[in-house]
Amino acid sequence: MRVFSGIQPTGEIHIGNYLGAIKQWIKLQKNNECVFCIVDLHALTIPYNPKVLQKLILEKTISYIAAGINPKKSVIFVQSKVKEHTELAWLLSIVTPIGELKRMTQYKEKAEQFKVNLNAGLFNYPILMAADILLYQTDIVPVGKDQEQHVELARIIARKFNQKYGKTFQEPQAQLPKSGAKIMSLSNPKKKMSKTDNPQGYISLFDSPKEIKSKIMKSVTDTGKEIKYSPGKLGISNLLTIYSLFSEKPIKEIEKKFKNKGYAEFKKSLVNLLINSLEPFRQKRKEFQGKEKEIKNILEEGAKRAQILAQPTIQKARQKMGLI
Ligand code: AMP
Ligand code: TRP
Repeated sequence: MRVFSGIQPTGEIHIGNYLGAIKQWIKLQKNNECVFCIVDLHALTIPYNPKVLQKLILEKTISYIAAGINPKKSVIFVQSKVKEHTELAWLLSIVTPIGELKRMTQYKEKAEQFKVNLNAGLFNYPILMAADILLYQTDIVPVGKDQEQHVELARIIARKFNQKYGKTFQEPQAQLPKSGAKIMSLSNPKKKMSKTDNPQGYISLFDSPKEIKSKIMKSVTDTGKEIKYSPGKLGISNLLTIYSLFSEKPIKEIEKKFKNKGYAEFKKSLVNLLINSLEPFRQKRKEFQGKEKEIKNILEEGAKRAQILAQPTIQKARQKMGLI
C-alpha cells in the first residue's frame, strides 16, 4: 500500500501529533511504501517568520527521524521542493466546489482567528492538501481526527476529477488510530492539544523531565477525586487516554490500579511514565544535532525520490485535461 502524510514545519511536535499520527506512520513504514512530507507551503498560510523557516524545516526533519521515521525506508522531503504539488493543486482547483471549501471546519476556525487580512491561501489549503495526497496515488493517509474532513475532501476531488476527465487518481482513505485520534490540551481539556496553544497545554516529544513534571502536575482536572474515564470528565479522561497509550495497557486496568488513590498519585505515575517513554526521543535527537549536512542530503534525496513517484501522475492529469 502507498501511505502519505504531511506535517507542518512550524511549532513543536507534541504527544498529540505522536499518538494521533506519527505512531501510526512508524508502524506503517514496516510493510508499506511511505511518503512523508514537511508541508512548508501550508505553513505560509498563517503568520510566520521567513527568516527562521529554513531552520525550522531542518529541525523538524531531525525531530521526525528522532521520532522513528527511517529515511532509508521511507521517503521524507519538503513540499516546496517538488513543484508538482503546486501544479496539481491548480489543476484540482478546477474541479473543487467552492461550497465544499466553505464547509471546512479548520478554515472556519482559522478565518475567525485571522479575520484581519484573511488570505486566499487559507481557503485553498485543502486543495493543496488533496494535491499532496493524490499526486502519489495514495491508498492510506494516517492522520489525527482534525484532518479527517480534509482527507474526505481529497476523496471527493479525486472522484470528481475521475468522473469528468477519466480515471486518473486513486481514492485515498484516512486512517485514524482507534484511541488517541484527538488528544486534548492539558490546560483546557475542551480544546485539542495544539502547537499553537500555550506550551502549558502540550507536552513536546522533547520536553525535559522537569517540564513534563510541571505540565502534568499543573494540568487541569475535573472536580471530584475518582480516576475514572467518563465523557463528563474531560481532563481526567484525557490523562487516562495518554496513560493507556504510552503504557499500552487498557484504561480499565489503569482505573483499577488507581482505585481509591487521588489525582496527585495518578499524575505522579503519569509523569514517570512519560519521562521514561520520551527519553529515547530526546537521546536520538541529540545524536542528530549539528549534522545539518546529513539532514540536507536526506531531504534532497527524498525530494528526488518523491518527484520520480509524482511524475507519471502529473503527466496523466495534464494529458487528461488537454494540456499535452
Ligand atoms: P499538525 O500539528 O496540525 O501539523 O498535525 C500533524 C498531525 O498530527 C495531523 O495528522 C493531525 O491530525 C495530528 N494531530 C494534531 N493535533 C492532534 C491532537 N491533539 N490529537 C491527535 N492528533 C493530532
Ligand atoms: N493539513 C495537515 C495538518 O495540518 C498537514 C498536511 C498537509 C497533510 N498535507 C497533507 C496531512 C497530506 C496528510 C496528508 O496537520
